[in-house]
Amino acid sequence: MSLAAVMRSEQQLLLPTYDRHKVLFERGRGVYLWDSRGNRYLDFLSGIGVNALGHAHPAIQAVLKRQAGRLVHVSNLFFHPFQAELATRLTRISGLDRAFFCNSGTEAWEGALKLARAYARSNNHNGHKPKWRILALDNSFHGRTFGSLATTGQAKYREPFGPLLPGVSFVRFNDIEDLKRQFDRDVCAVCIETIQGEGGIRPVSAEFLRTARKLTETHGALLILDEIQCGLGRTGKPFAYQHYGVLPDIVTVAKPLAAGLPLGAILTTNRVARAMHPGMHGTTFGGGPLVCAVAIEFLRQMEKIRGHVRETGSYFQTKLEGLKAKHRGVQEVRGIGLMLAMQLDTPDAAKAVVADLLRNRIIINRTHETVLRFLPPYIVETKHVDQVIRALDKALKNVVEQPSRPDCFVKSRDRSRN
Ligand SMILES: Cc1ncc(COP(=O)(O)O)c(C=O)c1O
Repeated sequence: MSLAAVMRSEQQLLLPTYDRHKVLFERGRGVYLWDSRGNRYLDFLSGIGVNALGHAHPAIQAVLKRQAGRLVHVSNLFFHPFQAELATRLTRISGLDRAFFCNSGTEAWEGALKLARAYARSNNHNGHKPKWRILALDNSFHGRTFGSLATTGQAKYREPFGPLLPGVSFVRFNDIEDLKRQFDRDVCAVCIETIQGEGGIRPVSAEFLRTARKLTETHGALLILDEIQCGLGRTGKPFAYQHYGVLPDIVTVAKPLAAGLPLGAILTTNRVARAMHPGMHGTTFGGGPLVCAVAIEFLRQMEKIRGHVRETGSYFQTKLEGLKAKHRGVQEVRGIGLMLAMQLDTPDAAKAVVADLLRNRIIINRTHETVLRFLPPYIVETKHVDQVIRALDKALKNVVEQPSRPDCFVKSRDRSRN
């Protein structure tokens, strides 16, 4: 099917939820993707942080082929060999004790919220109403289902679907006084993305995170970290919270966990896990043998490549800082490891740069209106970074500093995406 035919069919047949770029991808290898016309693209977004080992990684392919021929799904009514092994690896690298496997980021986050409420109930010994309030952060993003939406601190995502889950209040990002002011004995959980992804690659401050840890610990509430985008090696450590020396009660992961297959996980402590009993939570598909076998291989590969992520990430960041010094349209460079962003001064400028790079067959995206987001695969090399920097340099010069060129602007609606 041609791009035009696919577009026509989708327009008639799909819910109109996406505003896709007009490219039809057919295959990928390493850091590259090829479209239906045979054009090669450098992938600096990795399917929004999912294809962390690039495309068609040989070790992942081998596990996929082997496991697909043996056993794909059994349901959670029975055992298979891979959930326990995957949980062993995830608990070892996270410092937590137990895992629950599901199918996506938002499902992991929903489970984490349920776990927090269940924990509050099971620890309610004084006859009062169990702790129920949830504090989340302004500018956050936790997914598209109702609980996730209710805790997402961006009105544009929540507003079309209200009323949402009651009991959620939003704290100003990195505002310790606001956190202290809103925290009371009814709070059962404080929810934080260690590095806000969709909100523009904004790391939580060490002081804020430590205050949240202290408040929750002192008052019997839980600290829940969302590392769906920033976790699993993206920052050069297995988890972003490990840069802060803080251990959460619950952390959620998903995106890269099964190297492109859908798999999410909730990780937690033994103490919190005691609040869950058979029948309280579950999933049909989550944690099947195929996805778990692939995830075990992903974690093996991730451990080998973490040093490379740190080195290439800091090389990339230095180069981005160089562009900031050169171009007045660049406001800030943020991030860590291979989770980086460049904030421009206007949404149109950011749109134009993304479009210009795409014309030059480089894939990045724009988030939070003005932010260029870079989530390349962990296997990216300095030569690929150099190619992106050269293209960005040109785009910033052509499209941002000469904004009167009308052909440079994307005419379609907002394409910022989580
Ligand atoms: C931090 C964070 N949490 C949750 C989600 C939702 O994950 P999913 O799209 O897999 O449901 C995302 C997705 O972008 C995310 O970045």
